[in-house]
Amino acid sequence: MGKTVSTFWILGVCLLTLSCQSPDRPSKSYRIGFSQCTGADAWRRAMLSDMKRELAFHPAYTLLYEDASNSTTRQISQVQSLVDKGIDLLIISPNEKEPFTKIIEAVYKKGIPVILLDRKIDTKLYNAYIGGNNVAIGRLAGAFIGNYLKGKGRVVEIWGLPSSSPAQERDRGFREALKKYPNIQITSQINGKWERDTVQRIVASELNSLKDADLVFAHNDVMALGAYTVFKKNSIQNQVAFVGIDALPGPSAGMQAVKNGVLQASFLYPTGGEESIKTATRILKGKSVEREQILNSIQVDASNIHALKAQSDKLLTQQADIERQSQRIGELSRTYISQRNTLYLTLTGLLIMVVLGAWALYLFYTKQAAYRTLEHRNEEILVQKDQIEAVSAQARLATEEKLRFYSYISHEFNTPLSLILTPTEDLLSQKKISPYDLRNNLLLVQKNAYRLLRLVDQMLDLRKADAGKQRLHTAEQNLVAFIQDIVQDFRPRAEKQDIDLQFLPAKAVLPVWFDAEKLDKVIVNLLSNAFKYTPKYGLIHVRLGVLDKQVRIQVEDNGTGMDPDEQAHAFDLFYSGSKAFNLSKGLGLALSMEFIQLHQGEISVKSEKDQGTTFTILLPLGDSHLAPIEKRGSPTRPHTVVELDETIAEHLPTALPGKQMGTILVVEDNDDLRAFLTTRLQSEFAIVAEASGQKAWERTLEIIPDLIITDIMLTSDSTPTGDVMNGLQLTQRVKADLRTSHIPVILLTAKGQIEERIEGVRVGADAYMTKPFNTAYLLETLRTTLANREKWQRRYASDFLSQSDTGNRQDKKFLNELTALIEKNLADSTFGVEKLSHEMGLSRVQLYRKVQALLNMNVMDYLTDIRLKRAKHLLRETNNPMSEIADATGFSTPAYFTTFFKQHTGKTPSEYRKSPAKS
Ligand code: FRU
Repeated sequence: MGKTVSTFWILGVCLLTLSCQSPDRPSKSYRIGFSQCTGADAWRRAMLSDMKRELAFHPAYTLLYEDASNSTTRQISQVQSLVDKGIDLLIISPNEKEPFTKIIEAVYKKGIPVILLDRKIDTKLYNAYIGGNNVAIGRLAGAFIGNYLKGKGRVVEIWGLPSSSPAQERDRGFREALKKYPNIQITSQINGKWERDTVQRIVASELNSLKDADLVFAHNDVMALGAYTVFKKNSIQNQVAFVGIDALPGPSAGMQAVKNGVLQASFLYPTGGEESIKTATRILKGKSVEREQILNSIQVDASNIHALKAQSDKLLTQQADIERQSQRIGELSRTYISQRNTLYLTLTGLLIMVVLGAWALYLFYTKQAAYRTLEHRNEEILVQKDQIEAVSAQARLATEEKLRFYSYISHEFNTPLSLILTPTEDLLSQKKISPYDLRNNLLLVQKNAYRLLRLVDQMLDLRKADAGKQRLHTAEQNLVAFIQDIVQDFRPRAEKQDIDLQFLPAKAVLPVWFDAEKLDKVIVNLLSNAFKYTPKYGLIHVRLGVLDKQVRIQVEDNGTGMDPDEQAHAFDLFYSGSKAFNLSKGLGLALSMEFIQLHQGEISVKSEKDQGTTFTILLPLGDSHLAPIEKRGSPTRPHTVVELDETIAEHLPTALPGKQMGTILVVEDNDDLRAFLTTRLQSEFAIVAEASGQKAWERTLEIIPDLIITDIMLTSDSTPTGDVMNGLQLTQRVKADLRTSHIPVILLTAKGQIEERIEGVRVGADAYMTKPFNTAYLLETLRTTLANREKWQRRYASDFLSQSDTGNRQDKKFLNELTALIEKNLADSTFGVEKLSHEMGLSRVQLYRKVQALLNMNVMDYLTDIRLKRAKHLLRETNNPMSEIADATGFSTPAYFTTFFKQHTGKTPSEYRKSPAKS
């Protein structure tokens, strides 16, 4: 990332640098050094502005300007400094001739081109000389003066710096020209050094010797005008004529002086500034130049001054215009450059933004891609998590089912064990045993021992199957006869239950290879199930037929059937769904499936709730599917024990007339145990027995028993919502209902775990007994519970409103409500049991039983009791008349009140009022 950013910056800086370049600027720029001897006078200023004007057309050239102020030493050091600054070319107007030779040669030899401007030096090592022809100008001056003085006169010559080339050359040309006029004499020579001030000073001091002169010739106009000023000061200017050189345009320069008649003549001496720059650029561009560029001069005098002045003025104006325009152009070009720079800057910024934008986009997409990958990975993880959760849920379910299975196994073992141990103990405890009891108890023991045997047998088979140790021992035998034999075993049971049991074979003889022991178990199991779920007068049909290369056995009944969920899991060992587990069914069907699959056959079930069930078995015909080792069975039938499911005391009545210690409702789904308990308890209690929770609840409401004994696991039927009501739910219901909350409940179950006990206590059970139980212990528990109940009733009756009482919350609530209701309606003489039961939401019988159970008193007596208590209170605490008290306590007449009161208290109301209050 750092690398990318720095690349962008470099790019930006490059663009910026580029943008700051002038459009006309060539790739290379030059520095021209200009060493001027003096910049003080107008002529030199004109030279500089000529150069600058020309430079404006050459933007690649920069001028480094140095003014030596007429000092040779200073000028030499300035040249050196310019060279040191790295100039590409030197233009020099040297102050003197000889002192500069050495330095100029050195510069030239260094490879720096040299242009001599206006003044020369003594060397040939320069590239160009530009300047006027000073000798010629000197001649022109001489000629003019000769002519002006008409060949006779005295002339004062004012020199420029004598060591400078123009002064020397002008003098030479002048003298040459004067040779023609021998009567003209140069009477004085003054060294004016090109300077006005110097001239003025000298002329003023030497005026006396000078004033006789006819003409003053100065090497330049400024010196001529200096002399004129002194003469004028002395008012002798008209006696002398003045001639100068330069003829510089401008308001106070030479040309104007000629026009004004101050100077008789002057000679145009061009500055060469423009030419010097042109030449310099050519040299620097490598082009050839003229080495000696002599600039033309003309004489300016009264004859041509007007034309020349006009021209020069015009020129000056034009120059000023040009300068203004070039200034304007400069401004415009600066504006242009600045605007262009702004544009470039904007473009650069834009480019950077575009690049950054692209970069951001790239980052965004990279991030998006990374995000998508992450999301994808997340999804994968989520899927994996879901899978793990599903697996763990499955595992948990499997574990739960297994635990439930084991819990039911213990229940399944506990019930027959109870039915072996309980009657045995019962017999042992009896001193004299009646033959009827002996036979009944022994039959119960035998039957349950067989049941245990069968369970153990099934468990072993299952264990073998689970371990993969089940082997087929087949033999070929007639399947028709085999099944006929089994069906025959169920005949007595069918007759007893009035069930239409039929075996319907399609053929008389059907030889099939099968394992007799295993198939016997399967068919016995299917038939046992059919009998278990088929009601009286139902049908059970066993069909046998051949389908293609398979034999088909079907066991059909029109019993209770299964719902789709039960059907789907009919053969699962551990599955019981939301229903209570049915071991005999689960174990048997799981084994049947195992055995049929060993035969390489199939078993399936088709069932409809309340319509019936059909189990179908398909077995392959022939023996090609069997290994030789599997064909070593015997063609006999081992005779699986067929449970007749005969209830020993099934002819016993379900209810006996109430006597002894009260009525007990026995709730137990195992018919044998229910029958045994009924028989065993009926000597002391009136017994009502029910097999299902729902029926038990209905019975409870109907008879309001004194006590309920219930098994926790009740599988026989279900509530109207389809749920099986087990013993815990029944207890909860009994305890939550005002009508039944007073009834003690004893939970009787195979489950001994602490959680179950806690649950039992939580729902309000009064006692808990685990199977197998001891009958004597059970009887004792029943007696104690009922006796406790009685004590409790007495306590309620005596002080039912006491807040310290710790009885059942529901019952206390019931009594509070009942009492409040009675007290509220105390004045109403018609308020009796009828209205009371209606207001309480109970039937008369329920109210009667509830009050009896809680207070051990008649509900009517209770009402009377409250009336009397109120009457007593009013008699003692108020002075209300008798009639009013009778009215307030619900007695129709005062006479009836008096009679009633006397009957119950032994005193008339008046006597009672008078008698002292007992503390
Ligand atoms: C200016 C000047 C001119 C003259 C020239 C000679 O400094 O004196 O007046 O013509 O120099 O170099």
